Parts: sequence; structure tokens; C-alpha cells
Amino acid sequence: MAEHRTERGNWNSRLGFVLAAAGSAVGLGNIWGFPTQVADNGGASFILIYLICCLVVGLPVMIAEFTIGRHTRRNPVGAFKKLGSGWFPPLIGLWGVMCGVMILSFYLVVAGWTFGYVFEEIFYFAGLTAASEWVADLGNGFKNALFAVLFMAATIAIITGGVSNGIERATKTMMPILIVVLVIMIIYVFTLQGSMDGLRLYLLPDFTAINTNLVFSALGQAFFSLSLGMGALLTYGSYLKKNQNIVESAVYVTLADVGIAFLAGLLIIPAMFVAQYSGITIMGEDGRLFASTTLVFDVLPNLFKSMGGAFGLLFGTSFFILLSMAALTSTISLLEVPVSYIIDEHKVPRKKAAIGVGGVVMIFAIIVALNISLIDVLVTIFNNVGLPLGGLMLCVFLAWFWKSENAMDEIRHGYDNMDQGLFPKIWPFFVTYICPLLIAVVLGTTLYNLLS
Ligand code: PHE
Repeated sequence: MAEHRTERGNWNSRLGFVLAAAGSAVGLGNIWGFPTQVADNGGASFILIYLICCLVVGLPVMIAEFTIGRHTRRNPVGAFKKLGSGWFPPLIGLWGVMCGVMILSFYLVVAGWTFGYVFEEIFYFAGLTAASEWVADLGNGFKNALFAVLFMAATIAIITGGVSNGIERATKTMMPILIVVLVIMIIYVFTLQGSMDGLRLYLLPDFTAINTNLVFSALGQAFFSLSLGMGALLTYGSYLKKNQNIVESAVYVTLADVGIAFLAGLLIIPAMFVAQYSGITIMGEDGRLFASTTLVFDVLPNLFKSMGGAFGLLFGTSFFILLSMAALTSTISLLEVPVSYIIDEHKVPRKKAAIGVGGVVMIFAIIVALNISLIDVLVTIFNNVGLPLGGLMLCVFLAWFWKSENAMDEIRHGYDNMDQGLFPKIWPFFVTYICPLLIAVVLGTTLYNLLS
């Protein structure tokens, strides 16, 4: 209806917004990043710290991003500029634009692997061994670049379609099917020998494994997986209607994201131990699990192959198709940040902006495709440092420049009985003190350890 629309476009329905934000959050961060980090950091103790990071830091920051976005109806740079003056506010937005571009450059390569594995599975089960091995070679720079570029082209195509048309429709059907496929695969893995050793490692925390490096990785992973710290959810919030409950939406998005990551780990860690039973080495001499960037692509295809025949083909292809779609709804939100910045602040038409920014990111992605060892470096710099730092600046801005009372006034829209609950007592305290302090301590300690 015309009166519900602003010139920037709006989400079509209440559910549409939650789905789109969840679509941004759920992606490779859950199914590639999380299990890899769990393996790298010794299992259940990582999960415990990760959950604390999501609830204590992630959720309050997500509410803050939605609120600033809806209140200003701007891209991240314009939003902070509108609410404060001086050099600091636009810097927070520009930091996010940069993180978005850099994260996309490696994300596209991993997304390209995912998409490539759809074909790997089909070729394998069709008996086309040579073709399937070609796609499975993750060290093949040319092939990596080809799939990354294809993925970027798909992202640009959806972004140029505008907000709700492209993004809402893509997410609506995908997520429930992804959950069903994950659950069936988990049940299958649990019937295989060795899986219970993996389950033990996944669920029983070893508290002695908790150290600064683990906390640093868990915090970065929480920001990355929840799409926080770079303005992606702020941008999505800028298309949000006043009558929607921001806090409730943020809780749903966080639960969906954490839930799907937990399922992915529940599949992949036990599957590693199943692989061990068939003679594959999964641990180094120090007893730590191998956790390279290609872990998920080493473990899962073998699992599908072990299912054999029609089942293997069905689950193998549908899993990688669904994961590609989940990655696509995330690359859309990553690209939307720099694109909406160029549209709003430099008055460039949407299509031109998407193609221009997309083209630049494509060049970065090709560089990463040719040197996949860059992925680890980029994850450390941009996921683990860049995003939490963005979150820290956002909290400082909200608390000391914009003031949390103003944010509360915005949140009250769509949350009628807010003042009767605990929320107004807890959230301002968290964004003002707890979140920035925790982020600063984690980043500061890591820097200190690095330098000493
Ligand atoms: N959260 C997405 C994922 O888990 C990645 C992402 C990060 C998207 C930051 C937007 C912003 O795959």
C-alpha cells in the first residue's frame, strides 16, 4: 500500500524483516566458520564462550544497529552523520563500508567453493570422476576465481532488484529446508561408528582450554555470524517500519543464527570422528583437531559419498544448494552496505552503484581466489578485529553521542509495554558499559599478548 512505503523501500511484512535479517546472519559463518572454530579451539568450551558473546555482546549490539537504522533511515555513514557531528560519526560508518568490502572479498571465494560443490556432487554420482575432481580442487586458482565471480554476479543481480523483492523472496523458503536437511544428516551421522567421540568433544567443555585466544576468536565469530559491527543490520533496520518490535526481532534473529550454527557443529564435529574411523587423520600430534579453512569441504562430501547412490546425490546436492542460498542472502547484505552508502551519499542510481562496487570487490575476490592462504589473514583482521571494533565504536557513539534515552524512544515504537518490563533497565547499561568494556578488554589483551 502506497502510504506504507518510503522512497527507500520497505519490507513487505513483519515476518519479511526477520527473515531477511536472519538471512543475512545465517550463512557461511554458521556452517563453515563456526564448526571450524569449534574444532580449532577444542570443542565445547568454545561453544560456551561463544554463546556468552552472542547473548551479552551480540544481542545488545544488534538491537542498537536496528534502532539507529530505523531512526535515521540512512546507510551507515549517513546514519551516524545525522546523529552526531565531527569526524568520529562518519568514521564508524566508513569503517563498516571497508569491513564489508574486505569480508566480501574472501566470503565470495568460500561461497564459490560451496556453489562448486553442487556440481562436484552431481559429477561424482554421475560417474564423471575427472570433472568432479576438478571442481573439488580448492587450490585451483582459476576455478576459484570463476566461481567467485559467478557468485558476485548473482549477488549484484539480486541487489539491483531493490530491497524487498529480491531479498525477502529468497529467504522465505530456504531456511526451514536447510534446518530439515541438517537434522536428517545429524541423525544419519549419529548412526555411524565414531560419532559419539565427536559428540563428547562437542558437548563436554574442557575449562582448561579457555584462554585469551579462544575468547578473541569467539567474540569475532559472534560478530561475524550475527552480521554485526559493520552496519549490515543497521542498513536492514533502515528499511524497517515503525510498528515492528525491534527487540523481539533481534531475539528471533539471534536464536535462529545460534541454533543453526549449533546444528552445523553437531553435524561436522561428529562427522570428523567418523572419518577418523575410516583411517583419515583428523588430529595433530598435540591432540588438536585439524581445522583448516577447507575443513567442511573435506569432511562433508565424504559423508555424502558414504550414503551412496540416490541418497548421497539427493543430500549432497541439496545441502550445497541450500548452503549456497544461505551464503547468497549474506553476500546480499554485505554488498548492500557499500551500495546503499554510494546511493545515498553520492546520489548514484542503484544499478550503477551495485555494478561499480561489485566490480571492485570482484577484483579483490580474484586476488583471494588465487591465494587462498589470504583467507585466514583476512578472517583475523576483519572478522576478529574489524567487526568487534566497529561494534565498540557503535556502542560508544550510542551511549555518549546520541544517548541511550533517545534510542529508547525509538525502540518504544512497536514495543508498547516496554516500560513495564526489564528491558529499559538492562539494555542501556549493557550498550553503555558492559559491551564496550568487554570488547575493549578482549581486543586489548590480544594486542598486548601479540606485542609482548
Ligand atoms: N553473518 C554472515 C554469515 O554468517 C556473514 C556476514 C557478516 C554478513 C557481516 C553480513 C555482515 O555468513
